Amino acid sequence: MSARKQGGRTRKAPPSQTSLFFDPSADGLIELNRQALLDRITHANANEGADGLRADIRLLKESITSPRRSDRLISHQPVDECVSLKKDVLLSELDQILDARTIERAKYYLKRLEKGLRSRSTGKINDINLLRWKEYDDILTDSLWSFPKRDASGAHIAWYWGNFVPQIPHQLILRYTKKGDWVLDPFAGSGTTLIECRRLGRNGIGVELNSEITEKARELIGLEQNRHSAISEIITGDSRANAAEQALAEHGVAKVQLVIMHPPYADIIRFSEDTSDLSNAGDVETFLEMFGETVERATALLEKDRYLAVVIGDKYEDGEWIPLGFYCLNEVMKRGYSLKSIVVKNFEETRAKRDQKQLWRYRALVGGFYIFKHEYILLFKKR
Ligand SMILES: C[S@@+](CC[C@H](N)C(=O)[O-])C[C@H]1O[C@@H](n2cnc3c(N)ncnc32)[C@H](O)[C@@H]1O
Repeated sequence: MSARKQGGRTRKAPPSQTSLFFDPSADGLIELNRQALLDRITHANANEGADGLRADIRLLKESITSPRRSDRLISHQPVDECVSLKKDVLLSELDQILDARTIERAKYYLKRLEKGLRSRSTGKINDINLLRWKEYDDILTDSLWSFPKRDASGAHIAWYWGNFVPQIPHQLILRYTKKGDWVLDPFAGSGTTLIECRRLGRNGIGVELNSEITEKARELIGLEQNRHSAISEIITGDSRANAAEQALAEHGVAKVQLVIMHPPYADIIRFSEDTSDLSNAGDVETFLEMFGETVERATALLEKDRYLAVVIGDKYEDGEWIPLGFYCLNEVMKRGYSLKSIVVKNFEETRAKRDQKQLWRYRALVGGFYIFKHEYILLFKKR
């Protein structure tokens, strides 16, 4: 937007006539015409006085909070002309500009906003645009995770006993992969990880020992929309063998960029009668040996500097707390990883546990122990 000199005073051209197409949508996201938004910012920035700048920003805010008909998004608008933003974040950025004490400060905030709209800055392992990091308030960064309700949308129908909440792979995939990356789940179960991969545009490969479970999982994964044309494959096999390697090779892929492991928590749930099943290991030592073999297989397939996540809980045996989580942590550490985080996640209350709550409380008081309310998500980076 150009500023024109007229009669000794600077007079600005009127704001761009390009409409600021607008579409209020789910998740508090708005789709704006990138160029129209940039034009408005440039126009505001061309002001020499704070009053003019504030007036422009107020107008922009109004277009966002109560769009006129002409500002509405036309559905056939090409995607690359649109920018998808969190409405509340954008509004707070505009408020920050309005509240700035000096015009220099206001222009600094404007420039920062403009930069975040014109360019992207992402790291090597995910698609988080660091220039707009405030937009990602749904991505957890604390080591205590509490999900009051499991995500039951789409194909996440929670039919499998021993599955994990979809929010776990969701968080890990967003944090540790880019679109088009490959994710390996060696204990795929009902395919929660693969469903999430498909949703987020990542390719997923899962290995599950029990063929009946594999079949049902495959069916459900296929029901999940595949807007990003991701490849999702679940195969029947023992994760200590090379089933995943072969399946990946068929896609011309040698390495994956994230491994998510959710093994049986020893024998807490017996998943089958199969002796290759980690839940049939018989004792903790054998369980850890088998787990270690799976880690080794997965490690050979994981790209250097990428992440491996283990989701695991502890157990009680003969009145003693068996720290499976810490034992598994040790197994991974023996195999060339650095520890990045130990996340503690709440255990949701199942109906069975709710019904027996008082009984467990009594037993805990008598036995001198605490009732399990958490599990771990252990995060490692391959050296
Ligand atoms: C805790 S569950 C995983 C659940 C999964 N995350 C989900 O959301 O459905 C562990 C799974 O590992 C499988 N399993 C056990 N031993 C295995 C092995 N050696 N190779 C592959 N899968 C195995 C079990 O059949 C079970 O489905």
